[in-house]
Amino acid sequence: MTTATHRLAILGAGVMGTAIATLAVGRGLPVTLVDTDPEKAGGAAASVRNQLRLAQLMGHLPRDTTPGELTATTSTVDIADATAVVEAVTERAEVKAKVLAEVSAAVAPGTLLVTNTSAIPVDELAGAVAHPADLLGIHFMNPPYLIRTVEVVRGPRTGDTALAAALDLLAALDMAPVVVGDGPGFVINRILQRMINEAAKIVEDGLATPEQVDELFRGCLGHRTGPLATADLIGLDNVVDSLRVLHERTGDASYEPCASLRAKVAAGEHGRKTGQGFYEHGGAIG
Ligand SMILES: NC(=O)c1ccc[n+]([C@@H]2O[C@H](COP(=O)([O-])OP(=O)(O)OC[C@H]3O[C@@H](n4cnc5c(N)ncnc54)[C@H](O)[C@@H]3O)[C@@H](O)[C@H]2O)c1
Repeated sequence: MTTATHRLAILGAGVMGTAIATLAVGRGLPVTLVDTDPEKAGGAAASVRNQLRLAQLMGHLPRDTTPGELTATTSTVDIADATAVVEAVTERAEVKAKVLAEVSAAVAPGTLLVTNTSAIPVDELAGAVAHPADLLGIHFMNPPYLIRTVEVVRGPRTGDTALAAALDLLAALDMAPVVVGDGPGFVINRILQRMINEAAKIVEDGLATPEQVDELFRGCLGHRTGPLATADLIGLDNVVDSLRVLHERTGDASYEPCASLRAKVAAGEHGRKTGQGFYEHGGAIG
């Protein structure tokens, strides 16, 4: 399939939905972006425009590609002609199951269905769709136009056709896929979320400040960012949701979100998107 024949529908116009839309329109693909929150749907076009300008300025997306058309809406009725649907709604299994059931009823059988879940097993979500073989996970990083590598999660019921369609779509988006097996948190978040929780506990215990934890990861291990700066970028609400998913499905107590993470979320300190998390951020992002 060539770039022009891909038509993407993205569900959820939050941090990831708008960033994935930016990647796709920046590579020339038309996108319909759906969010049930009218405020999110209303602000989506401006957010994608700003991210696209920045990504092009920084050389992460080409300037000589005509951007794909972007339509922002509150209705899944508008996604019927999509060739692939990417679900990027809140990290709650019941919300995702409902959205995926709606989506699979709105598109033709055989249409590629993608979940961008951080931690919920693909096969658990496959139970909600009409044709489980059509569903797989593409765990885009944040933001995906800056980080080319993606974790592609093949569930036990994912079909060969869906995997081939996903790899074709990722080629059109100039992404570098790594295909892995299914399970809570897959590869990245099974490790990363535990690390973030542990780093937050270290700060809670008074052993180090967030700055010191992150400085050690950067300086000693050569990481580009430390775990707590990463947590602020992800969104602390999303970190707590992902830890809960992991805790519930593995029974491993080290995934139980620590008190300080829960307190920050309860206080509305969600990281970069609200302007305050482990760090103070100049200007919240949409
Ligand atoms: N933030 C990250 O760094 C990151 C990275 C990779 C994957 N993810 C995953 O991507 C998904 C989205 O995360 P996010 O950070 O963008 O969250 P977010 O809170 O910024 O956005 C979620 C959006 O989903 C919308 N939504 C909720 N129910 C909906 C429905 N029924 N239909 C349509 N829209 C609905 C909300 O209004 C909100 O705008 C989650 O599964 C998350 O785990 C996040």
